[in-house]
Amino acid sequence: MHELILVMDFGGQYNQLIARRVRDLRQYCEIIPYDTPVGAIMAKRDALKGIIFTGGPSVATDEGAPLADTAVFDLGVPILGICYGCQFMGHALGGAVAKADRREYGRASVEFDTDSPLFKGIDRISPAWMSHAYFVSSPPEGFAVIAKTETCPVAAMSDDNKKLYGVQFHPEAVHTPFGNEILKNFIFGICGCKGDWVMSDIAGEMIRSLRERIGGSKVLCALSGGVDSTVAAVLVHRAVGKQLTCVFVDHGLMRLNEGDQVVDVFRGQFDMNLIRVDAGERFLAALSGVSDPERKRHIIGEEFVRVFEEQARQLGQTGPVDFLVQGTIYADIVESGSQKSAVIKSHHNVGGLPDAIDFKGIIEPLRSLFKDEVRALGRSLGIPDALVDRQPFPGPGLAIRIIGDVTREKLDTLRQADYIFRSEIAAAGLDKDIWQYFAVLTDLKSVGVMGDERTYSRTIALRAVTSRDAMTADWARIPFDILEKVSVRIVNEVENVNRVVYDITSKPPATIEWE
Ligand code: XMP
Repeated sequence: MHELILVMDFGGQYNQLIARRVRDLRQYCEIIPYDTPVGAIMAKRDALKGIIFTGGPSVATDEGAPLADTAVFDLGVPILGICYGCQFMGHALGGAVAKADRREYGRASVEFDTDSPLFKGIDRISPAWMSHAYFVSSPPEGFAVIAKTETCPVAAMSDDNKKLYGVQFHPEAVHTPFGNEILKNFIFGICGCKGDWVMSDIAGEMIRSLRERIGGSKVLCALSGGVDSTVAAVLVHRAVGKQLTCVFVDHGLMRLNEGDQVVDVFRGQFDMNLIRVDAGERFLAALSGVSDPERKRHIIGEEFVRVFEEQARQLGQTGPVDFLVQGTIYADIVESGSQKSAVIKSHHNVGGLPDAIDFKGIIEPLRSLFKDEVRALGRSLGIPDALVDRQPFPGPGLAIRIIGDVTREKLDTLRQADYIFRSEIAAAGLDKDIWQYFAVLTDLKSVGVMGDERTYSRTIALRAVTSRDAMTADWARIPFDILEKVSVRIVNEVENVNRVVYDITSKPPATIEWE
């Protein structure tokens, strides 16, 4: 059992970031909703070392504000409240929360009491990231003020005896240079954690427990070639070898040579039972004449499930398949559990699989891991870098990078252009700095001149973004000479293309993919 920090979610936008920061410090943590009953927290008492209250958009004194059960303060476990979390702590324990004269947003210069165990080893005056309109104006009885700014008299407070701490600023933000030190002081100094969450050890634990759960049963896994399903499959393969069969539904919408690469790695390197289903024709037929992005996404999602079901049924004829492996990761779980937001795009992942098939159980070996951890785990399992570091690729593949209807010719055109772009970015050594880079085939035709001939051909758009988590993104500042090289090569080498444009929109307001 790993030592546990609970991150109690009060609805802030940085909640996942807090959890990731904690995990980066090699400390296991889980995110739980603010209204989790104290009984449920008590059930984890043996592992529990500390709790972090996140920020949130509400005002603690308002009616209907998210309030945790105050019994949480009696558990005897150290608590760190951040922003709203600090205000909630102040309010719940009898302090006062007041509205600031004006909203404080951005970097503030903070004076820290470096005698406090929370601020050990940091500079007495240093910047911190603030984002709030309310603050604790008077701390509860028993609390001392341990940090202040010019405008915020209680930038941090603590009751060292009860090990309760509150900070008005955001230690998880990159703009708080000592933020990591503060989190470390809390987790290791105050909570006394050892930091035993190390991916290479965890692989062994996971494999052992998978072996125990699966026993002699048969297992099925749908592979997409993406990082998550790859790592999940290799992990289960390590545990039960040939009891696992992977089904790779090749929808014909992958990038150049990608389908073959997947097969090479799984059959060649890992000697797995792998069924490749060449379903390209079928997907093209289903997509024929469809231009609407959401329709495309639905068709591909549905078709995928259908193809997979057929395979599962066939396999079932040779004996029951008991378990289904899915590459669900922690972010999928946290996101699907959060408040409703507008559907921008219906994501299709191999994760959302059939109800129609009757399995004894679903195995989601990565469900507690963040993406970076999945990659580290993959590396420790010997999966090649090309797969582990693969840039995110949407489930519906190139179909949503072709504006308008999808045809084989368009797919070929896009594949070639995309390959040239990717090769040049890699050759320039930029591939590690850019989060995602790809070509889009627009539905625009325009006039050009090649040799002495007039052309009337297609426009390729290049998209390249930097990002941390795909929630927001900025367009990558690729040097002009590299863009030029890509443009010249695409127009010369790819038939039917006479114009190349570079997308210079960030997300928001645009999204990363065009559809
Ligand atoms: P957008 O275009 O919404 O994309 O800014 C955010 C990130 O998600 C990827 N993406 C998908 N990933 N299934 C996936 O697994 C999908 O259907 C899908 N659609 C978009 C996109 O490539 C980017 O990394």
